[in-house]
Amino acid sequence: MEIMVTGATGQLGWELARSLSMLGRVHALDRRQCDLNDPGSLRAVVRDIKPDVIVNAAAYTAVDKAESDMLGAMRVNSESVAILAEEAKSYGALFVHYSTDYVFNGEKRTPYVETDPVCPINSYGESKLSGEKLIEQIGGDYLIFRTSWVYAARGKNFLLTMLNLAQSRETLSVVSDQRGAPTWARDLAQMTLLSAYKSIRAMKDDGFESGIYNLASSGETSWHGFATYLIEEFRSQLREDAGRVIVNEINEVTSDFYKTDAKRPAYSKLDASRFEETFQVCMPDWKDSCRLCIADVVSNLVR
Ligand SMILES: NC(=O)c1ccc[n+]([C@@H]2O[C@H](COP(=O)([O-])OP(=O)(O)OC[C@H]3O[C@@H](n4cnc5c(N)ncnc54)[C@H](OP(=O)(O)O)[C@@H]3O)[C@@H](O)[C@H]2O)c1
Repeated sequence: MEIMVTGATGQLGWELARSLSMLGRVHALDRRQCDLNDPGSLRAVVRDIKPDVIVNAAAYTAVDKAESDMLGAMRVNSESVAILAEEAKSYGALFVHYSTDYVFNGEKRTPYVETDPVCPINSYGESKLSGEKLIEQIGGDYLIFRTSWVYAARGKNFLLTMLNLAQSRETLSVVSDQRGAPTWARDLAQMTLLSAYKSIRAMKDDGFESGIYNLASSGETSWHGFATYLIEEFRSQLREDAGRVIVNEINEVTSDFYKTDAKRPAYSKLDASRFEETFQVCMPDWKDSCRLCIADVVSNLVR
């Protein structure tokens, strides 16, 4: 099988390039090889590969920047996504795409299910929702995975930012009035492998149903809870090297402490039951995955 992965330098794209090699030949494309800012160039890229599966991990993920660059966010997260979905349909390929908890406004206080009304409160959320809708309109065989608070042992993310700050500051202030589920990019990639494998088999038997699935860790916390857990875990895994963690106070603050261009939903925990039942898997608890990811970070430090 030929598997095309976009956004190969991102947190998720990096993991996908490794996990999906068990399914076939992976064409892991970075921005230079497949630029979603240039929708007109995409059809030729797909036609060159003739993929059986297109996995779109590329996205305009600069949430605050999107507020002043809605056109740019829409081009990458919506217009180009539609072209990839059309190409996938024309090849009879499975199209796997990722969306976000930010399609919701965060006013609920129980986990969001796929059928809850969408109502983004920032431009990034709007652009991702627009991408989802276009995929649904185009049809074909697709899986849209809504995920949340993605982190990895590489790339730009909250976990690595906190680990760096913990080694340079004695006091940190972290937001405690936004709740959700931190999700490890490796878990997403492995769940993508499993669900893509089952979906391709079902497509051959005409038993496949396209759809939107929540795909995030089980459990929930605040950014403050996440920071506190990951820093303590880092300290404990460092053992005799624990002295490099100098932070001794992690204060809880509200969202208005940090002025950001984009509003964030106060609550965005996603209920992944539909995915778990359909593909007969269970999403790990966020703490278990966080611990494993920190083990990767620590082993890289030691070497
Ligand atoms: N990160 C989160 O917390 C989060 C939460 C919910 C949903 N998601 C969704 O999960 C998916 C994966 O996100 P991630 O965390 O892996 O994001 P990421 O680490 O920011 O990676 C994004 C990737 O997209 C690429 N990209 C950006 N603009 C592009 C363009 N014009 N053409 C081609 N590639 C482009 C980036 O390339 P460069 O390296 O060259 O910039 C990078 O490889 C996305 O669909 C995102 O919307 C993420």
